[in-house]
Amino acid sequence: MSKRTPLIVANWKMNKTTVEAVLLMQDILNRLNPGEMDSHEVVVCPPFIDLKQVATVIEYDRSEVRLGAQDVHWRPDGAYTGAISVRMLAAVGCRFCIVGHSERRQMFREGDQEVAWKLEALLDGGIAPILCVGEPAEVRERGRRAAEDFVLQQVKAALSTVDTALAAKLAVAYEPIWSIGTGAAATPEDAQRMAAAIRDCLRQLFGDVAERLRILYGGSLNVGNVAMFAPQPDLDGGLIGGASLDAQAFSQMVQLWRDQ
Ligand code: PGA
Repeated sequence: MSKRTPLIVANWKMNKTTVEAVLLMQDILNRLNPGEMDSHEVVVCPPFIDLKQVATVIEYDRSEVRLGAQDVHWRPDGAYTGAISVRMLAAVGCRFCIVGHSERRQMFREGDQEVAWKLEALLDGGIAPILCVGEPAEVRERGRRAAEDFVLQQVKAALSTVDTALAAKLAVAYEPIWSIGTGAAATPEDAQRMAAAIRDCLRQLFGDVAERLRILYGGSLNVGNVAMFAPQPDLDGGLIGGASLDAQAFSQMVQLWRDQ
């Protein structure tokens, strides 16, 4: 049995106007059993523009669900048109923030350096980063070893300058790019193998602290497959995209993870 509190994260991506986001959040809260929050941590990451209203819904419900953001800029303030800082996220109530999602790496050309800067800014500002790593299809086709090399390189690039004292807040999400939004999830065994390799790498970087860090799987998680990932010893939760936009599916997935 894992000593780590499972972490289930909803990534709404670029979906939902503010009104729609409020309705979805209310629907999720109505379906989540408050008792579920004792043993699990649930985080919802809406678009920036919806954060304030979603925070109000969570507060009004007195829910333990946490608010997260999907991205952040590493500078504290200044002339960075369109960007949002750690301080702004903290002020609106964010406790978590996704960093280095493959959609940001690929579509917005974010490199390892930007990911490392964002991560450091988040840790300094007291927001828990959820670092996303994962290999593209062409790397996976070269075999498990190639996929592992690729992913561990991303982990090291993001974390090698992180202070061990701050590392305890961190979570890492393994999201193979070929599995995101495709309906083709990794097998639970492959996800576990990669999570174990990531934990080994975290041990090298942070020693015993690695045992406390949560490693998530993400990529086409749904009601039908989530229960197979939950019992894997190095998997401590899930990062859920498409299925998190459906309140019934998402709340059911939280419960399925808990029941394992
Ligand atoms: P998906 O997305 O669940 O829709 O595959 C996961 C993610 O990108 O975080």
